[in-house]
Amino acid sequence: MERQSGKGGGNSVKTIVFASNKGGTGKTTISCALARSFAKIAPTAILDTDVTGPNVMTVLDVPYKHAEFDLDKFYPQKVTEQLEAFSPAMFIPDGVGVTWTGDERGEMIRELLERVEWSKDIEYMIIDSPPSTSDELLTVLLQSNPTGVVIVTHGSQTAIDDAQRLISVLENEMFNIPIIGCVRNMTDVFGMKPLDGIDLLGDVLTSDTLDVDHIRDLIIERLNHDR
Ligand SMILES: Nc1ncnc2c1ncn2[C@@H]1O[C@H](COP(=O)(O)OP(=O)(O)O)[C@@H](O)[C@H]1O
Ligand SMILES: [Mg+2]
Repeated sequence: MERQSGKGGGNSVKTIVFASNKGGTGKTTISCALARSFAKIAPTAILDTDVTGPNVMTVLDVPYKHAEFDLDKFYPQKVTEQLEAFSPAMFIPDGVGVTWTGDERGEMIRELLERVEWSKDIEYMIIDSPPSTSDELLTVLLQSNPTGVVIVTHGSQTAIDDAQRLISVLENEMFNIPIIGCVRNMTDVFGMKPLDGIDLLGDVLTSDTLDVDHIRDLIIERLNHDR
């Protein structure tokens, strides 16, 4: 299979970052479910950029081998026929936390974004991001050149406040990154509070089987509309 490093698929690839600022809102849960959903219709990649809490492979529930390396290449794990994944968990031993400095974590994120050898035909690149709006997220936003960001929040006041702070960062002229919309997760637990000025992509209950195909279709509709 033909491969290329970095974003895969060249300029046509749609890169969607899932972010929240607050931890525990469901970024990894929702981004993995959406990656599987996108992979039903097009070749898709999911990249885990949360180097201190790299949970993507666990949530995807695939046995992952330890990553293969060349001098300058990382090889993704095939999840399904049309889905590839890469996570720093593939080379960090299980149960071990990294003690890298901010600079080192930033360098790791840059390498993840540049060195993974995705299939050439990738159409959607899903990026699961770390919490906070500190330099790790900023590195993800600046280096991945995203098509847009999906905000994953729940309805607790603290999550809403943190999401609102994230929105002000995305709208900052330094970034100016399109916000595709918001997924309100766990609405049966945390309520339905809306985010100011951001369209809803969908509400997810804890009892849902995370059938997120309608959220996927809304994202595609908005990406096509904004083109
Ligand atoms: N819709 C949901 N229903 C039930 N549990 C959920 C749901 N979304 C997230 N969770 C649980 O909440 C916790 C945090 O989710 P996670 O995706 O790891 O959040 P984040 O990546 O934002 O830190 C996990 O234990 C996850 O299984
Ligand atoms: Mg996570």
